[in-house]
Amino acid sequence: MALSVGSKKIKTAVFISGTGSNLKSLIKFSKLKKSPISINLIVSNNPKSKGLKYGKRFKIKSKFFNYKKKSIAEKKIILELKKNKINFICLAGFMKILSKNFIKSFKGKILNIHPSLLPRFKGLNTHERVIKNNETYSGCTVHFVNSKLDSGKIILQKKVKINKNDTPRTLSKKILIQEHKLYPKAILKIFNL
Ligand code: GAR
Repeated sequence: MALSVGSKKIKTAVFISGTGSNLKSLIKFSKLKKSPISINLIVSNNPKSKGLKYGKRFKIKSKFFNYKKKSIAEKKIILELKKNKINFICLAGFMKILSKNFIKSFKGKILNIHPSLLPRFKGLNTHERVIKNNETYSGCTVHFVNSKLDSGKIILQKKVKINKNDTPRTLSKKILIQEHKLYPKAILKIFNL
């Protein structure tokens, strides 16, 4: 199914695991007239995600799914997505890998943000590895999700300069500021807006 923008905004779910700062920036963006998406559901695999507070604050339905058994969690998530007529998914710091079947059922409709200049530094502990490798630049990437980790088609990237005294923590902070701008931009781009 192709993505299309009619007069109504596309019902979107944001998947999180932690702080949810990208979720917050996406909620703010979704409220703008120019946004093609509305955020109607927040999914978390972690009941302690700080990001879940944004569900309460912005009155968006939020649900925790227990990932002890991934296949069961995914089945429950798919039911919830259908129930809420969700047609688009933004992964925002979601630290679980979606199954091939899940991705197939939302083909071309799942985006992810990753805190590196993909295809470099896929996977976890990105900032630690970037600093250990003495890189002079890092950044962030918004991409479509396919069945290979952090490998789907790249939509947009933003470069960030690394200073000599940067630590994984300071780098993460600098990159997050750019992530909050890049995700909305990438959404506008895929809808040709
Ligand atoms: C972000 O930096 C995001 O790019 C990263 O987790 C952080 C979540 O922050 N995602 C990944 O590493 C995915 N592999 P947030 O919860 O404040 O949005």
